[in-house]
Amino acid sequence: GSESKLQLVHRHIRAFPDFPKKGILFRDICPILKDAAALTAVIDLFEEHVRNNHQQVDLIVGLDARGFLFGPLLAQRLGIGFVLIRKKGKLPGATVSVSYDLEYGKAEAEVQEDAVAAGQKVLLIDDLLATGGTLYAACELMKKLQAEVLGCMVVIELKELNGIDKLKTHNVFSLVQY
Ligand code: PRP
Ligand code: ADE
Ligand code: MG
Repeated sequence: GSESKLQLVHRHIRAFPDFPKKGILFRDICPILKDAAALTAVIDLFEEHVRNNHQQVDLIVGLDARGFLFGPLLAQRLGIGFVLIRKKGKLPGATVSVSYDLEYGKAEAEVQEDAVAAGQKVLLIDDLLATGGTLYAACELMKKLQAEVLGCMVVIELKELNGIDKLKTHNVFSLVQY
């Protein structure tokens, strides 16, 4: 049909007022996952962005939990590996961790020490950028492993929270902005 991939993605995002706390307008990506064409459109758009903007990417690094919904699909399209940054206490073996604030709470993120080698070029992926606390923490973890963060990719960017200003890289690609 004539609907663009971006329109298709846009149409599959819902908003819920006062979730999980009063005053938060929660952007729900579940309808994207439920619709094969919308999910394919998301991965197509991410893949196009990577192929047009980055010559060499070694790994896609995704954030627990909603970054895991898109990251492995993109990594497979690109023919590269996927690395998990998890919430604390979920990963076995030697890890590095960092605590952070997000729009509606606090958390701690962790990655396996051998997940990324020094000097490797990575792209971070998550569903949504709000205050940037989560992606900032991911950048910190990558710094500890001496990885090179080429940029961040998200389905949704909440512009009014200025998350981009907090990040170590201002190279943030988003599909939908509010
Ligand atoms: C949500 C969202 C992003 C983060 C964005 O994750 O998936 O990861 O908040 O907020 P920020 O930019 O203010 O840090 P959350 O930890 O709530 O839950 P999840 O496990 O469902 O991904
Ligand atoms: N994570 C942080 N803020 C969010 C929001 N407004 N909607 C969905 N996920 C979020
Ligand atoms: Mg998350």
